[in-house]
Amino acid sequence: MTLNEVNEETRSRMALALDVDDLVEAGRLGRRLFPWFSVAKVGLELFAASGPEAVGTFIDQGYQVFLDLKLHDIPNTVGKTARVLGSLGVSYVTVHSSGGIDMLKAAVDGLNEGATAAGLTPPMVLGVSVLTSEKSATPEKLQERISNVVAADCGGIVCAASDLLLVTEQAPELLSVVPGIRPEGVSNNDQGRPATPSTAIQEGAGLLVIGRAVTASADLEQAANAIALEVSDAL
Ligand code: C5P
Repeated sequence: MTLNEVNEETRSRMALALDVDDLVEAGRLGRRLFPWFSVAKVGLELFAASGPEAVGTFIDQGYQVFLDLKLHDIPNTVGKTARVLGSLGVSYVTVHSSGGIDMLKAAVDGLNEGATAAGLTPPMVLGVSVLTSEKSATPEKLQERISNVVAADCGGIVCAASDLLLVTEQAPELLSVVPGIRPEGVSNNDQGRPATPSTAIQEGAGLLVIGRAVTASADLEQAANAIALEVSDAL
């Protein structure tokens, strides 16, 4: 595989984390990295800066948009917010699984309603299992959160690569979305539980969330291409 010749199966496993506060800069990253990534992840920082316009920018560039807002509130508020987000045309929305089954269900229902009313395909809810900053996470807590995600009919779960074994054992039907991706020799930054692209794929990751390993690299295209090669070999 040479630069720019990434196969679709590999590309479909790669989500680009656009953790910047400026839509012009994010849009530039999106255009340059489109050959390697099928999903653009808009997080709190970019959404706080540019809101729904950020979503539209990446839909227009041809991406599936992953809105990583990690919702967590009373079910009524989450449901009403999800109804709005469902009308934006995004493909994935994150919700904290620690918020419980009723809240997760409210998110699923709200997204379905909002998308249907707008004539769109409903986004998939991804339950956030545990944050790497959550020091008191135990296997029991993770198991409980996986069951919340399943009980609420969410389509996927966000987890560290080191939790994939438990996730795929308990809920193989969920799309597993894995951040903390670092090729050998690349700085971990603040990632608590990093894994290489090949390890994450071999352990069953469905979608890899990749940020600074590419966006902080001196050569964006080379960094993206090297990760895509590693993913492609591991598939
Ligand atoms: O570290 P990287 O830039 O690849 O981050 C990609 C995503 O990983 C971020 O957008 C964030 O959602 C997530 N992250 C995480 N734990 C951290 C830091 C970031 O899960 N400690």
